[in-house]
Amino acid sequence: MLPILTLLHLFPLSTAHPQSTLGNRNFPDPSITYDPSTDKWYAFATQSDDDIHVQVASSSSFPSGSDWTYLPRTDILPVPGKWVNSSQPEIWAPDVHFVNSSSSGKWVMYYSGLASGSGYHCIGTASTASSSNASILGPYTADDEPFACPTSKGGAIDASGFYDEQDDARWVVYKVDGSAKGPGGPCGNGLPPGEPTPFMLQRVDARDGVTKVGEPIQILDRDPELDGPLIEAPSLVKHVARGGGDDDDDDNNDDHGRGGDRWVLFYSSHCFNS
Ligand SMILES: *[C@@H]1O[C@H](CO)[C@@H](O)[C@H](O)[C@H]1NC(C)=O
Ligand SMILES: *[C@@H]1O[C@H](CO)[C@@H](O)[C@H](O)[C@H]1NC(C)=O
Ligand SMILES: *[C@@H]1O[C@H](CO)[C@@H](O)[C@H](O)[C@H]1NC(C)=O
Repeated sequence: MLPILTLLHLFPLSTAHPQSTLGNRNFPDPSITYDPSTDKWYAFATQSDDDIHVQVASSSSFPSGSDWTYLPRTDILPVPGKWVNSSQPEIWAPDVHFVNSSSSGKWVMYYSGLASGSGYHCIGTASTASSSNASILGPYTADDEPFACPTSKGGAIDASGFYDEQDDARWVVYKVDGSAKGPGGPCGNGLPPGEPTPFMLQRVDARDGVTKVGEPIQILDRDPELDGPLIEAPSLVKHVARGGGDDDDDDNNDDHGRGGDRWVLFYSSHCFNS
């Protein structure tokens, strides 16, 4: 095994320098998406302090530069789904993806909102019209029914979509928000035994991004020792091995199945304020 210093020397760590982007604006739970038609990156965030349901910023230079421009007074989700509490919608964690079918396409948004008649959030979907020139800035029309709404388990939040090009398959991963109905303590779920906060993986129709295919599958739950009261904000990435055969570790074996491809799940562990 190489000593640490040698490893650092071989793989110099590039340091990310935080830069002024949106100043001190409150822009929580961001997701980012590239739009080929405008050649810009777009960032979407949780409802603003002045009640814009979905906040948007864009960048022409990301990732080499970091000049992000806030798009003021743009509410791309003017009317959340009928299932959302209209006096207190609390739209959180929007995530936007392009869904392509033959010559046309549309943008689909996954978001969380406070479900009417319950104190819990659920996940909804909204889409632009399908056309050859659909705009990432919508407007988005929300579906009437929630996409996932397990209110008896605390609801669901933090939906994130993923398209698997190899399999032409589309997936949505989200968190069952058990910590919202927890027994108290840190993040409302710190007192033992606490509620489960599992991540569910739901396959959807690759051509519309919203029609569910089969049942959701639980892919991870919190480990109270490692994660404390919760895990949240799941995001899936597929790492496709170049050339196949071996994976990227140092043992010259393929440890991860087909051609060394592997799925990587990013998520947050512990309270949002930790
Ligand atoms: C959209 O899908 C069609 C096949 O349905 C494919 O030929 C085309 O390249 C796709 N376009 C994009 C932008 O992915
Ligand atoms: C909407 O939220 C408000 C504030 O929490 C609550 O008073 C009201 O009962 C909710 N409405 C519905 C239909 O759930
Ligand atoms: C798309 O093109 C049609 C016809 O050219 C136009 O009427 C419409 O406004 C365009 N939509 C967007 C979102 O640019």
